[in-house]
Amino acid sequence: MISERVKKVQESGTMKMKELAGQKKKEGKKIISFTVGEPDFDTPKHIVEAAKKALDDGKTRYLDAPGLPELREAIAKQAKEYNGIPCESSNVLVTPTKQAIFETVMATVNEGEEVIMPDPAWVTYEPCVVLAGGKAVPCVTKEEDQWRVTPEAVAELITPKTKMILLNSPSNPCGAVETHADIKGIADLAKDHNLVVLSDEVYEKIIFDGLKHYSIAAEPGMLDRTVTISGFSKTFAMTGWRLGWLIAPKPIFKGINKVQQHSITHATSFAQYGALAAMTGPQDCVAQMVKEFGERRDLIMKLMKDIPSFKCDTPKGAFYVFPRYEGKMGSEEFALYLMDKAEVAVTGGAAFGRSGEQHLRISYATNKKNIQDGMERLKKALA
Ligand SMILES: Cc1ncc(COP(=O)(O)O)c(C=O)c1O
Repeated sequence: MISERVKKVQESGTMKMKELAGQKKKEGKKIISFTVGEPDFDTPKHIVEAAKKALDDGKTRYLDAPGLPELREAIAKQAKEYNGIPCESSNVLVTPTKQAIFETVMATVNEGEEVIMPDPAWVTYEPCVVLAGGKAVPCVTKEEDQWRVTPEAVAELITPKTKMILLNSPSNPCGAVETHADIKGIADLAKDHNLVVLSDEVYEKIIFDGLKHYSIAAEPGMLDRTVTISGFSKTFAMTGWRLGWLIAPKPIFKGINKVQQHSITHATSFAQYGALAAMTGPQDCVAQMVKEFGERRDLIMKLMKDIPSFKCDTPKGAFYVFPRYEGKMGSEEFALYLMDKAEVAVTGGAAFGRSGEQHLRISYATNKKNIQDGMERLKKALA
């Protein structure tokens, strides 16, 4: 009864390991989970209070599809001031981050068109492209380039069928951060070949070592062909709220808005009032969480040095490490082995694409005690 379209898509590799870890916990195993990309902090109080107040005030009715006008305004202001994107609130559509990616691909990619995307990459990009009838073209990234997507590698993959370049900086699963030179080079390619760019910047605030985040839509002429996507989940510890946004040029916006109207209608009304408090309220909670993520990254990198079979450069953003391991086991088999033997849940790198094989993704969005204990267990199991 399942459509051929859906049959072509794999289950999410990260969700599979998360669910398996949950199942083992129910069976009484003391699993330490490094699987999901979910901050372990509570959503800051002022954000929760704003959503509660919205409920009490009866803000529970339909909104226009693109979202709450005040929130769209606040997002446009931040995009202009922080990201340098010359947009207006009319370019902003509020929707869950993952939905933003799905809607953008649905609205732009035709049957048979190609989308160049990083490999390894987040597990959802390829399924979105496949569901739209397009073809995912992996751009192999390398450890020696700090897993960055380089303009040179992208240039080699452009064909007459290429429609889109998909970027993700800082990246999941590698924590890679694109340089300004990369961004400029890829912008030139997009303009020269008349391509759309989807730039997933959901980890834009989780960036370390004083590095700056560059939005490709801020480059001259790029707003006209770029859909910038970001969200509240990672920056404000709001994963369960299902809220993010996209910024699109008017013609693409119109197409995306149609998909939104005919799918979710709009993002949850009272949740958008919480998001408004997140955007306009105090930002020290973000700084504190990013500081803590930075300390956890340093801790996990220090502990990894004691595990000789792991090799990994220090990631510069997001909250993942992506070590290469020595050994003959495939990465999924190895992850299952570690769950069994060490009671530590990680995701096999092959879930993120072919060049993720021989790697593991370890999410350090968990507390320092778990990191300490989990790495100790891995060290013992691998000794
Ligand atoms: C790279 C990337 N983009 C988008 C998302 C989706 O975020 P959300 O949970 O806000 O839909 C995730 C979530 O893990 C992600 O890692």
